[in-house]
Amino acid sequence: KSSLEDTLLAAIRTIPDYPKPGILFRDITTLLGDARAFRRAIDELVHPYAGLKIDKIAGIEARGFILGGAVAHQLSAGFVPIRKKGKLPYETVRVAYSLEYGLDEMEMHKDGVSPGEKVIVVDDLIATGGTAEAAVKLLRQIGADIVAACFVIDLPDLGGRRKLEALGVPVRTLIGFEGH
Ligand code: PRP
Ligand code: MG
Repeated sequence: KSSLEDTLLAAIRTIPDYPKPGILFRDITTLLGDARAFRRAIDELVHPYAGLKIDKIAGIEARGFILGGAVAHQLSAGFVPIRKKGKLPYETVRVAYSLEYGLDEMEMHKDGVSPGEKVIVVDDLIATGGTAEAAVKLLRQIGADIVAACFVIDLPDLGGRRKLEALGVPVRTLIGFEGH
């Protein structure tokens, strides 16, 4: 394994049976609290996009806000929040997405991105891809040019990467946990 993978593996905490029996929860709070691991993760997320003149980073509530803010700063890009419904004060676009149980909605300000702007979607983890797919749909409703979607963690067995790639979105992940 590369030293990046070793660093990330050592910094991500795994909690069995959270939030319910049988689930292995991948907790990034330990990574965020580890200065070296946090910096390495951000550096690794951004390096393919340096020089591409990315206009905006779209961070997905909640954990994608933390990583996305750091990525935006490093790329000298703006930041646009993609939020669970009912949190944004101005006019929004909205999309429904499925959770494990039932439906929820995500929204963003309709002027959060301008048509044609180059945008990268950032979140901590991709599992089924439903959350990121919702973000892609919102951004495309507004006419964004989605350059990529980036995640620290991939749970490859849940198929999220394929779902986004089928939408024509290049996916970048730093570490995968098989068997989730
Ligand atoms: C988690 C994770 C991703 C999403 C991935 O967020 O942070 O955003 O689930 O799942 P998916 O690929 O199957 O859609 P969660 O909804 O738990 O909320 P949080 O980030 O606000 O804690
Ligand atoms: Mg999340």
